[in-house]
Amino acid sequence: MTLHKRRQFPSHGQKWDDLQSRMREVTRADTDWRRGRTPLFVFFNDQETYEVGRNAFFNFFTENALGGGRAFFGIGQMEKEVIDCGLDLFHAPSDAGGAFTNGGTESIFLAVKAARDFHRARHGRQRGRQLNIVMPDTAHAAFDKSADVMDLELRRAPLDASRRADVEAMRRLIDDNTMLLVGSAPCYPHGVTDPVEAISDLAMETGIWLHVDACVGGWILPFFKRNGRDVPDFDFRFPGVRSISADLHKFGFCPKPASTVFYRDQTDIERAMFVADAWPSGTFRTKTLAGTRPAGSVAAAWAVLHHLGDEGYRQAAHRLASMTDAYVKDIESIGGMKLWARPDMSIINFGSDDYDMNAVAGRMAGRGWLPALTRRPKGMHLMMSLLHEPVQADFMADLRTSVSEVKNGQTPQTQVQATYG
Ligand SMILES: Cc1ncc(COP(=O)(O)O)c(C=O)c1O
Repeated sequence: MTLHKRRQFPSHGQKWDDLQSRMREVTRADTDWRRGRTPLFVFFNDQETYEVGRNAFFNFFTENALGGGRAFFGIGQMEKEVIDCGLDLFHAPSDAGGAFTNGGTESIFLAVKAARDFHRARHGRQRGRQLNIVMPDTAHAAFDKSADVMDLELRRAPLDASRRADVEAMRRLIDDNTMLLVGSAPCYPHGVTDPVEAISDLAMETGIWLHVDACVGGWILPFFKRNGRDVPDFDFRFPGVRSISADLHKFGFCPKPASTVFYRDQTDIERAMFVADAWPSGTFRTKTLAGTRPAGSVAAAWAVLHHLGDEGYRQAAHRLASMTDAYVKDIESIGGMKLWARPDMSIINFGSDDYDMNAVAGRMAGRGWLPALTRRPKGMHLMMSLLHEPVQADFMADLRTSVSEVKNGQTPQTQVQATYG
């Protein structure tokens, strides 16, 4: 284990120029996202969208979205309008509402809390009773985090042959303590959307809350559909869907942190609400886990949504779809390489039965590409935005070379593992 040498608190103030050059120095070895070398973490449409988001963010850098109803009314108004855009996109009924959060994990946490409180309201709260969540194996680790905090049991159902949720397998895991069903649009590991319609039927039949995790696809998949691409629906048109999480800071192309969570009706929003009244300062009431929230994120999301509009998102969706098709074609043309699932969006998961993909990924890392991996099945993972469009030829050339090196028995310069954080 390498020990981090603890720094002392700075003894004197330093000028911006010095700080900036030190920051450049410490980030010199970072992966170059601008050259499309990161297959996750960063999402990009085009330079103009980037600048609109950045400018709007810094115009409201100091304001606090917690004060959106009491001081910064314009921020509160923009927040409402962003939520309205999502409600419109997801065909929400008139009584629906939502919240602007700091990320997918927070949006999921809030939906899990609302679902738990719904179950408690219907079935009472019994001491020693542990409630559970039934979800496909591919649901995001944010559900594990929420379950840990709220002391819930997680039940992961196996997938069908297309690596989507197997709804009958989910059904078999349900019991009286099941408080939540989950589907993803799409799931992170394999990039495919679960059969939300069938999970919605199961939710209607059992009366269990269904959350759709559209953190990745929420703000872009509807435009794939509007362009005529054959992608599955996942939204409130299915009556069992009670809540949806959708990240603006992924394929909404908005600056971080920015996500949204939507609820089918008003009472569900109340369930997601945190109200504290006992302390000396009076009632503290928030729809989010966070108290203070960046107003810059709200303004930037509002600006990016209005900058792109239906036309801009459809253009982005069109380019993402064409780019994904082109990558898929190239990947499948490499001998022994195959897709682990047919992508519904721009996540591609691929591997091989013939050679070790971790070794291939290690060779790619040696060439400056940040490799992302899946463990089950062993494969490489690309979550691609439009940063990856101009680098396709470079990526494929390096992938081909890395594969032939591994086939020739060359070991990777860098060992890589499927880990996050
Ligand atoms: C499907 C899915 N859900 C939720 C999340 C969590 O989002 P965040 O990292 O913004 O908390 C992610 C992150 O990649 C994701 O892919």
